[in-house]
Amino acid sequence: MRVTADRIGHAFPGQPQLFRDISFVLEPGMYALCGPSGSGKSTLLGILAGWIEPKVGTIRPDGITRMQWVFQNPHGVARRTAIDHVVLPYLADDIERPAAEAQAYTLLERFQLEESAHKLFRDLSGGEAQRLMLARAVAAQPDLLLVDEPTAQLDPQSAGSVVGVLDTLATGGAVVVIATHDERVSAVCSRKLQLGQP
Ligand SMILES: Nc1ncnc2c1ncn2[C@@H]1O[C@H](COP(=O)(O)OP(=O)(O)OP(=O)(O)O)[C@@H](O)[C@H]1O
Ligand SMILES: [Mg+2]
Repeated sequence: MRVTADRIGHAFPGQPQLFRDISFVLEPGMYALCGPSGSGKSTLLGILAGWIEPKVGTIRPDGITRMQWVFQNPHGVARRTAIDHVVLPYLADDIERPAAEAQAYTLLERFQLEESAHKLFRDLSGGEAQRLMLARAVAAQPDLLLVDEPTAQLDPQSAGSVVGVLDTLATGGAVVVIATHDERVSAVCSRKLQLGQP
């Protein structure tokens, strides 16, 4: 399982070059994607996801069958409960509802969301909603997980547990790419991809 970027560069139409000549190979592990606001972190995640075609260069995913992208701003279903969001990927994997609910609950616990399991999405705090989107993505058992600023709205303790869960996923064989400004997050990643000025 591997993602290879070969000399990619990107500019949106009518805009200056965002980044150029970036090459890397991602193998299972946790990577920090760093750079100032506007340097192109979210854009590069979009390129890794295959949603944005780079203007120059190529991205080659090898052996990636399941990709999940957790956006910078949480998008859930307002009138659904938190646990519903996490049960769904398990049901989609043909797991029976009672087992799916048990697994979803365990995952909510790992993200310290067990007390919010039955709250509606629209009633969650910003940080809770962000962690729920991560839980949903982890439930889908991706081999490529792209995460955009997962700790921006979290206190240090919650941020630590989020990083712990992502690290477990990476250790289990997934490629995890985290766009982040958070030094504590980049410190635990095995490699740092730097955009723009450090
Ligand atoms: N679809 C688009 N069309 C035109 N310009 C875009 C588009 N998406 C992003 N941009 C511009 O490209 C630049 C990089 O945006 P991007 O969202 O990748 O930055 P970022 O590093 O993720 O920033 P932040 O840390 O604030 O999230 C910005 O100047 C942004 O306005
Ligand atoms: Mg961004």
